[in-house]
Amino acid sequence: MNIEYLEEELKEYFQWFHRHPELSYKEYGTTQKIREILTGKNIEILPYKLETGLVAIVRGEKEGPVQALRCDIDALPIEEKTDLDYKSDKDGVMHACGHDMHITIGIGCAILLEANKADLKGSVKIIFQPAEESSIGALKILETDVMDDVERIWGIHADPTNAAGVIAIREGYVTAAVDRFVVTVKGVGCHGAHPDDGIDPIPVSAAIILSLQSIVSRNVNAFHPSLLSVTRVSAGTTWNVIPDKAVMEGTVRTMERDDRILYERRLREIAEMTAKAYGAEVDVEWIAGCPATYNDKDMVNLCEIKAKEMTLATAVEESSLGGDDFAFYEENIPGCYIKIGTGVGHPIHHPEFMVDTGMLYGAVEYMVELFK
Ligand code: NI
Repeated sequence: MNIEYLEEELKEYFQWFHRHPELSYKEYGTTQKIREILTGKNIEILPYKLETGLVAIVRGEKEGPVQALRCDIDALPIEEKTDLDYKSDKDGVMHACGHDMHITIGIGCAILLEANKADLKGSVKIIFQPAEESSIGALKILETDVMDDVERIWGIHADPTNAAGVIAIREGYVTAAVDRFVVTVKGVGCHGAHPDDGIDPIPVSAAIILSLQSIVSRNVNAFHPSLLSVTRVSAGTTWNVIPDKAVMEGTVRTMERDDRILYERRLREIAEMTAKAYGAEVDVEWIAGCPATYNDKDMVNLCEIKAKEMTLATAVEESSLGGDDFAFYEENIPGCYIKIGTGVGHPIHHPEFMVDTGMLYGAVEYMVELFK
């Protein structure tokens, strides 16, 4: 394989994907382009009927396990503000989370693994997954049987807090479980001058909002990272009418499974008991999202050994109470989510986020080492 040629090719692919971003579940052109490139390189694509996204496989010629690499492919509803000559050609849509880089690394791994399959032990499935930003796109892939024979899964993410090519890794929890809640307080509407004729849901909501913060400060183990944010409150239509209901919505982020259960229970108790104390009623909706991502110890060890062998710079991966639906793949098998430095710059989801494309080939080489 002509390495210099592949390096240049990867940059071209990256630029194409960057220029043509597509939102969650709308990644038709992206999927088509990935398919074209892989087909052109004689890489097998598994025959799943996915609306968007696809799964490629490289079958090694030696005995070994089936492993997987997850690459998410969707972009964000952000207006790009860079002056790159390959900036987004779509108004209000941008690859601002580095998923263009994830796609390119996935393609690069497929090409390099295919070229070296005589030495590859086992198989590698490369999952080009739609709709990570929706936080549940992984479930589309998990509806297929693609994971049935997979023994471990790797994930990658762009990391603008580190210099290009730095491998950031840590054992344990790295992203949080993402849950959403909606609390509706039902009171009795009346004239603003005669609150005694009704049950005002607004003070009830205020009391609930303040009490909810006691879950993190009084109920959860102080050594466990977690948070609860009420992010939307709505009630009323005008200044002299007490409304009959108030709605609040928000998110809970936890790392530990037990804390997730604890939050849901306490949230319900606080909302229900507080409403009762005021004579109101309440409806609590808990909408579970993805679980927390956990980096397996043995996989992390392997990452560290390989980085050392290849004399790559490493860093300690920052944990985040943000989420990644990569965690869904890990529910039954070990996984490892690696952050790869894209050059220190604007954070992900920023309109000027950029990837230093000099890191692409090195990242592919590194990931391929992990599969060997
Ligand atoms: Ni992302």
